[in-house]
Amino acid sequence: MATKSLSLTSLLAKKQNGEKITCLTAYDASFSHVLDEAGIDVILVGDSLGMVIQGQESTLPVTIDEMVYHSRCVARGKQRTFLVADLPFMSYATPDQAAINAARLMQEGYAQMVKLEGGHKQIETVRHLVDLGIPVCGHLGLIPQSVNQLGGYRVQGRDGESAKRIIDEAKLLEEAGASLLVLECVPTALADEITAQLTIPVIGIGAGAGCDGQVLVLYDMLDISFGKRPKFSKNFMAETGDVKKAVEAYDIAVKGGSFPAKEHSFE
Ligand code: KIV
Repeated sequence: MATKSLSLTSLLAKKQNGEKITCLTAYDASFSHVLDEAGIDVILVGDSLGMVIQGQESTLPVTIDEMVYHSRCVARGKQRTFLVADLPFMSYATPDQAAINAARLMQEGYAQMVKLEGGHKQIETVRHLVDLGIPVCGHLGLIPQSVNQLGGYRVQGRDGESAKRIIDEAKLLEEAGASLLVLECVPTALADEITAQLTIPVIGIGAGAGCDGQVLVLYDMLDISFGKRPKFSKNFMAETGDVKKAVEAYDIAVKGGSFPAKEHSFE
């Protein structure tokens, strides 16, 4: 009998019960199956595939057709894990365009939720998607699709003004109907405050241990990405020497509170 997939309700219950949520990226059916078997709660088909699968310098060249293809591959490998897929750069420039492309991720890619980057500018789009019955995950802090505007991959929200903007945007996203929020590369204290103020689960990456859950790029934590591993990631293969055991070790470390440690976080 097919195993039932986790739902948004079960993710929300985890926040309410103080249980950490684990998330990793995946881009194909085989890794998706490994993550599913290891007990990972959420798989993100991230547009990071532009870098780790395609070897591009940023996520910007990734197309909606490519996201749909990889989401469909991932969907075939999993049973229990909740599936989120990224709307890539310029695929949600208007609310109507967002609806068409989010529908493709769900109908052709079998995603259970779509993720988009940005705060103020995306509120109307989030409302529109949610009104149409499409679950939305927000993404604030370091938003890689805006790398050219941000001037590089840097920690965000270090000064009072930008910290306040991120807090305001997080609240606006929740009010607009987002059901999950990814917070990337922000100081731990800021992430803690946002996690406390929101009722929806906050999934951190480089945002300290206080978030409701953690996400990493799979290839970074398996230490097979080329280039330097980011400070906020950890090589789980070093301790285990086995892909499935590395993923299980990550799941246990996040759920047990030992990852991320101080050295993976920012002040
Ligand atoms: O594309 C991606 O993998 C992401 C994560 C880094 C959160 O958005």
